[in-house]
Amino acid sequence: MIERENSNIATSELEKQQQYMQKMKAYLSEWEQKTGRKQSYFVLTTGCQMNAHDSEKLAGMLENMGYIASLTEENADFVIYNTCCIRENAEEKVYGRLGRLKYYKNKNKHMKIAICGCMTQQDIVIEKLQKSYKFVDIVFGTFNLYKLPELLYHSIKTEGTLFDIWKDAGEIVEDIPTVYKNAFQASVNATYGCENFCAYCIVPYVRGKERSRKPDDIINEIQKLVNNGAKEIMLLGQNVNSYGKNLEAPITFAQLLQKINEIEGLQRIRFMTSHPKDLSDELIETMKNCKKVCNYIHLPIQSGSSEILKHMNRRYTKQQYLELVKKLKTAIPDITISTDIIVGFPGETEQDFQETLDVIRQVKYCTAFTFIYSKRTGTPAAKMENQVPDEVVKDRFQRLLDVLNGVVEEVHKNQIGKTVEILVEEVSKQNSNVLTGRTESNILVHFEGTKDLIGSILPVKIVDSKTFYVIGERI
Ligand code: 5AD
Ligand code: SF4
Repeated sequence: MIERENSNIATSELEKQQQYMQKMKAYLSEWEQKTGRKQSYFVLTTGCQMNAHDSEKLAGMLENMGYIASLTEENADFVIYNTCCIRENAEEKVYGRLGRLKYYKNKNKHMKIAICGCMTQQDIVIEKLQKSYKFVDIVFGTFNLYKLPELLYHSIKTEGTLFDIWKDAGEIVEDIPTVYKNAFQASVNATYGCENFCAYCIVPYVRGKERSRKPDDIINEIQKLVNNGAKEIMLLGQNVNSYGKNLEAPITFAQLLQKINEIEGLQRIRFMTSHPKDLSDELIETMKNCKKVCNYIHLPIQSGSSEILKHMNRRYTKQQYLELVKKLKTAIPDITISTDIIVGFPGETEQDFQETLDVIRQVKYCTAFTFIYSKRTGTPAAKMENQVPDEVVKDRFQRLLDVLNGVVEEVHKNQIGKTVEILVEEVSKQNSNVLTGRTESNILVHFEGTKDLIGSILPVKIVDSKTFYVIGERI
């Protein structure tokens, strides 16, 4: 019963936004008749894949209203920043770009500017925007992304900045128009939010409690994507492993994967991120048995020291993590593993850091996203007293990269001689005769080929390797 009521709320929200999209369409078409050109939009995305996918929805709504994509920010009629706040430098980047945007807006007075995403869920950011960034027209958050049409319409009709920030998540609104970057490779939300409260992390405060989409909504979306040419899908969530626990009809992430594996025409299934504490044997078995589920997992360790992991509130030890890796490698011998690592968490000693290096050497990651700890106001770690001095952190960070690069290089070297299938993604930025693609195990492959191959799955032989990629030849 509750389920039904909720889905009605969500459906009516979508209908309401569809009406605003129609109103905006009428407004923009009138504008086009007057000026002889269409209005354009520019979306700047910072942060993770979740944000990148949210931006695909922003673009989808804007194109539905009649906006066309602008290649440059300077000449766009509507500019929106979809922001990240996971580390301080992500926020600084946004403030820096806003300064430049003000200059563009002075030249182009009718430009509309909006900011949304994780940054705007923080009170200190709102205060700063209210005080020093009055030229911004719309500020909204992570929970009401789908309201863009309504906010934009009101902003066009009124003066001053419109703030619409919710403290908590409402219902999941499905079927928001979306422009996918690639037809053959698409991201699909599995869960929203996070309630793990790792001591350093701001995400649970800005993305709210964990919510899972209903399996049928996910499957229907994937089916539509496959009908439109998708070969690979990436299921997104801050912790996909705890998918489904809070649904009215609970289901595990492994069971969801099994259902998706049956979708005809789909060839590859990826997912991220997996929290080690929730990685079940059932999931490992499913990865092993479901042909379409890729032999690759992103499994953030954060630190190799059990003591630091305890303070981070990660709820696993170094030993437990290594056990998991062993299980994965035993079940799926050619699996590749990537990770996230933070250096300089409060209280980290040289010995703790050595434990991290030890994990890297033992696991042999194919890639790692490495971060210098960034103090985030409002998180428990920000109040910890034993912060590590900057110069110590910088030195450790460099040593971390040295060890990591050695390991990553070795993983790539071990691919030489293998014949693998790759999904061709794009033309290399360095050489227009070279294409890049990824193996099932997420290894980046460069090979000679022509643009028409983009989006296809091809066999290649790996003939050489560099630190971060391998070189393949078509066979
Ligand atoms: N400082 C540095 N890195 C962080 N991450 C999350 N919060 C912080 C922080 N305060 C990293 C973690 C996480 C990744 C997405 O970002 O490694 O897995
Ligand atoms: Fe942040 Fe931890 Fe949640 Fe990941 S699991 S988003 S690191 S709180």
